[in-house]
Amino acid sequence: MPTAVEQTAARGLEGVVANESSICYVFGEEGRLIYRGYDINDLADHSTFEETAYLLLNGDLPTREQLKGFSSDLKAAQKIDRVVQRVIRDAPTNANPMDVLRTAVSASAFVDPDRGNNGREAEYRKAVRLIAQLPTMVATFHRLRNGEKPLAPRRGLSLAANFLYLISGKTPDDELEHAFDVALILHADHELNASTFAARVIAATLADVHGAVTGATAALAGPLHGGANTEVMKMLLEIQSPEGAEAWIHNALAQKRKIMGFGHRVYRTEDPRAAHLRRMSETLGSRAGQPQWFAIQRTVEDVMRREKGLYCNVDFYSGSMYYVMGIPLDLYTPIFAVSRVSGWCAHVLEQHADNRLIRPRAEYVGHMNRRWVPVRKRG
Ligand code: COA
Repeated sequence: MPTAVEQTAARGLEGVVANESSICYVFGEEGRLIYRGYDINDLADHSTFEETAYLLLNGDLPTREQLKGFSSDLKAAQKIDRVVQRVIRDAPTNANPMDVLRTAVSASAFVDPDRGNNGREAEYRKAVRLIAQLPTMVATFHRLRNGEKPLAPRRGLSLAANFLYLISGKTPDDELEHAFDVALILHADHELNASTFAARVIAATLADVHGAVTGATAALAGPLHGGANTEVMKMLLEIQSPEGAEAWIHNALAQKRKIMGFGHRVYRTEDPRAAHLRRMSETLGSRAGQPQWFAIQRTVEDVMRREKGLYCNVDFYSGSMYYVMGIPLDLYTPIFAVSRVSGWCAHVLEQHADNRLIRPRAEYVGHMNRRWVPVRKRG
């Protein structure tokens, strides 16, 4: 009689090292994060999203010429094909933007000039197109659902400024553009997070970049992953005022509710990305005349640290930062995707460069040796 594999499952694959990678690493105990060996703090303080995306895809920071070439390739690819526009237009106006984005990414495979070609150079070109087009996809749906005409991307703008322009019709000032650009840098990659792992599992079957990014987008949407930023803002709106924050959190914890924007599978101390987002959220909140969200958040942070020993993660302050920038709540997770697509693509390229099918085993805990009986004889 065959027996099941006698191994215990690592629930949620916690602590399991699934593959080698030279893209990104999280030092969970120290609260450090590196992209290709560069500290996230240095990148947030000095880099741009375009430069960071190049770094993730290629392994090194670009020279001036390489950056110029990469940025102009991105600008040249920003427009989305009519087929993709039609898919977005056909979505109901009350659709979840993450569902629309996932579908648009998938549909863009129909018309990609390199469709069917999974060679490295073709995959790289597809990656550049996806990085360039996700902002346009998100903004196109957003404008259409508001009864507004989608805007054409503006070539003179950075990817961050262009996205803000595409959703609002207004070119952001330098402070907003910079803050948003830093947020994109901070979200660009995070080692084997759930969506990136999903992308690698898909890529490891030798499926293409579009398939992997479609699956990754679906994984990102969940509230335990990228969906948490929207949930944080909903919570702050429910709390309403700094005075009520402490009691609200105590009550939520007493009901064993999970507080969105806290906890992490890998970090055992503060997520280094949170410090940047905290600062920007405070500055932009006072600038917008809405300091109350930041004040609520500081109280929530204190209580969570005291009561649960938990630190906030990347999703805690990004939500309030986008809120005071006037961005609707359901675009926060699509914004995460607009940035993370650069990391997903880097991982797909790395997976394909040294591929092995990812196919683990299950610890079988089900029935054994049951006898089939005809339906007329069942219960
Ligand atoms: N609020 C309250 N308690 C939390 C918590 C939170 N946000 N995150 C973790 N905990 C508690 C759990 O209840 C659990 O306590 P217990 O051992 O007494 O049951 C313990 O901490 C471990 O949590 P667990 O959910 O098993 O950790 P994980 O590694 O599987 O999950 C997250 C990590 C990120 C999914 C989890 O912390 C979470 O759900 N956070 C909220 C969602 C979020 O912000 N996601 C974005 C991540 S970047």
